[in-house]
Amino acid sequence: MPMGTVPTRILVTGALGQIGTELVEVLRDKYGEKSVIATDIREANGCTQLDVMDAEGIESLVQNEEITDIYHLAALLSATGEKNPDLCWSINVDGLVNVISAAKKYGCRLFSPSSIAVFGPDCPKHAPQVTGLNPSTVYGKTKVVGEHLAMSSEIDMRGLRYPGLISWKAPAGGGTTDYAVEIFHAALYEGHYNCFVREDTRLPMMYMDDAIRATLELMEASLDSLGTSRGGYNIAGCSFTVGELVESIHRHIPEFTCSFIPDIRQNYADSWPDSIEDIVARKEWGWMPEFNLDRIVDEMILNLRNSQSSS
Ligand code: NAD
Ligand code: SER
Repeated sequence: MPMGTVPTRILVTGALGQIGTELVEVLRDKYGEKSVIATDIREANGCTQLDVMDAEGIESLVQNEEITDIYHLAALLSATGEKNPDLCWSINVDGLVNVISAAKKYGCRLFSPSSIAVFGPDCPKHAPQVTGLNPSTVYGKTKVVGEHLAMSSEIDMRGLRYPGLISWKAPAGGGTTDYAVEIFHAALYEGHYNCFVREDTRLPMMYMDDAIRATLELMEASLDSLGTSRGGYNIAGCSFTVGELVESIHRHIPEFTCSFIPDIRQNYADSWPDSIEDIVARKEWGWMPEFNLDRIVDEMILNLRNSQSSS
């Protein structure tokens, strides 16, 4: 490390969730085990208990651990959030304000995810970077506030509008796009899935490896190269209907069956775009996805089968 350079010390909130489980692993590989403090409201080995509603607790951890970078993943997702709108607002907005305040006081950089849920029914189905953000869910509104705070809080704060994320290491955490994770477990272990959205529901999706790489690439980019989308870049992975997902799973498990029993989450899915236009992220920090639908399905089935046989 060059003389005078401050070593990177990272705090991750919400570290036990779908993204945190994988991001912490990658950050620890990159910066060293002891340089990454994983925290969550839940208890687990290797994880410090921290509620993001506890502003003093966040500040003292940031100060005592000499934190330079915060990855703020603690949040309620869309399905859980719409069941508990007040709690969703508190955790997603007040919790973020607490984290921003600590980051500002101790000069930390901050990554805070946004979501495709910032878009509402008035958005074009192929969502541009810049358009009216009029979400119909409380969850989406909290993400719009997060993007505004990124640009107005006078700290180096960055975000990505993650699509629905597909991964095998940790369960999905109460979102509308959870069906695209649950379906693999059902296909492998039950042979059947009752899907809570219609067969023709098309949403933007992304494999976790692409999402983690995007996160690291955004945080590695020089601040000067980032423009007014810094608080929430559109990033596209791929886009498919549930019917197309089932068809791709059939390449591995031809006997798999799926029924469609839409619930309230259909409304949230219908209010979001089908696909994402990500030209700004490509231009400003070189974003490029690697996983298409068939490759995601191949990886999910291979990894779930391997993890089952080794457990
Ligand atoms: P998740 O639900 O899997 O994990 C969130 C974690 O936050 C959980 O471990 C939970 O215990 C923790 N948490 C909840 N309340 C807390 C509190 N008060 N204090 C501390 N921790 C608390 O969510 P995720 O999928 O890992 O999402 C992380 C971030 O990415 C969120 O901001 C989410 O909105 C965003 N995002 C996720 C997706 C996706 O598909 N997973 C898509 C778009 C955006
Ligand atoms: N995947 C998330 C959800 O469905 C989108 O932010 O809530």
